[in-house]
Amino acid sequence: MIAIRGATSVEADTPEEIRQAVGELMRAICEQNSIAEEDIVCILLSNTADIRSLYPAKAAREAGFARAALFSAAEPDICGALPLCIRVMILAEKDIRPRHVYLRRAAALRRDRARFSVALDGPSGSGKSTAAKQLAKELDILYLDTGAMYRACAVKAQRAGVTEFTEESVAPLMASLDLRVDYVGGAQRTILDGEDVSEAIRRPEVSLAASRISALRCVRKKMVEMQRKIASERSCVLDGRDIGTVVLPAADFKFFITASVDVRAKRRYDELKGKGFDVQFDAVRREIEERDRGDETRAFSPLRRADDALLVDTSGMTAEEVVAFLKKKIQERV
Ligand code: DC
Repeated sequence: MIAIRGATSVEADTPEEIRQAVGELMRAICEQNSIAEEDIVCILLSNTADIRSLYPAKAAREAGFARAALFSAAEPDICGALPLCIRVMILAEKDIRPRHVYLRRAAALRRDRARFSVALDGPSGSGKSTAAKQLAKELDILYLDTGAMYRACAVKAQRAGVTEFTEESVAPLMASLDLRVDYVGGAQRTILDGEDVSEAIRRPEVSLAASRISALRCVRKKMVEMQRKIASERSCVLDGRDIGTVVLPAADFKFFITASVDVRAKRRYDELKGKGFDVQFDAVRREIEERDRGDETRAFSPLRRADDALLVDTSGMTAEEVVAFLKKKIQERV
């Protein structure tokens, strides 16, 4: 038997909001703990005193959790408590380490939730970013696309008119770099010198420049520092080239995601075509090979599988299959 804790919040005390928030919380708890409704023995819910329009237990029953013994209670009106908050304790017949789930504003309460980090490394087009993004969403943890940060450095250099990337030409730009990573509706936005460059960094001409600039020590030093700081604050998935080897060598989970050059080139080609760029398949394939060479052979933090990273070849897998595989591996051990 395990006890799983969870909490969520609503923005307004309405039955619809409560139904939605409780349903979402219950489903997230089941998914993240790989439990089904029939594994649940009892569900104890509580709500802050400012919630009066619907018993959260009723909302849980309406969300399909009708078999277990349900109980709802109002909490005392504690001064300074997070408003409009619903808490849950679930007892389930299962022999796993529970994963407690804190959603919405209640995420601020999850000090008791074990923090963990996932490192996803691999070459361009391996599908790691797509997988990392979806994985983070499903686990309700932060996703940091570190490639976006190197891309922003390349844009910065290009805008400054620097074409030859050397320590001498790029170090002054790094010293004055104003780079921020923000999250809007869960999606990462890359802000360079106060401007949102999230789209600009995806332009094809930025890819090779990012690979080149990322070989410089002054760039890597600055980026790794920033990435470690972001990752130290909460559970996260980071994807890149050196996450498992350099940025987070003590990451709880490490995967090395790869795929054949042809599959990777086809994915990148489809992605660029989908965005309306006029590109040729052969040119995309050549560029992927060139980037691989650059990323694998550079002196500082080359692309390399960490000894303790699990190799995942995604050539014959769909994006959904990759995410399901990673999630299963993580949940087996969390
Ligand atoms: O993942 P991406 O294609 O957006 O990355 C752009 C370039 O940045 C890539 O060619 C290599 C570099 N990079 C890196 O050196 N280290 C990382 N952790 C992430 C990206």
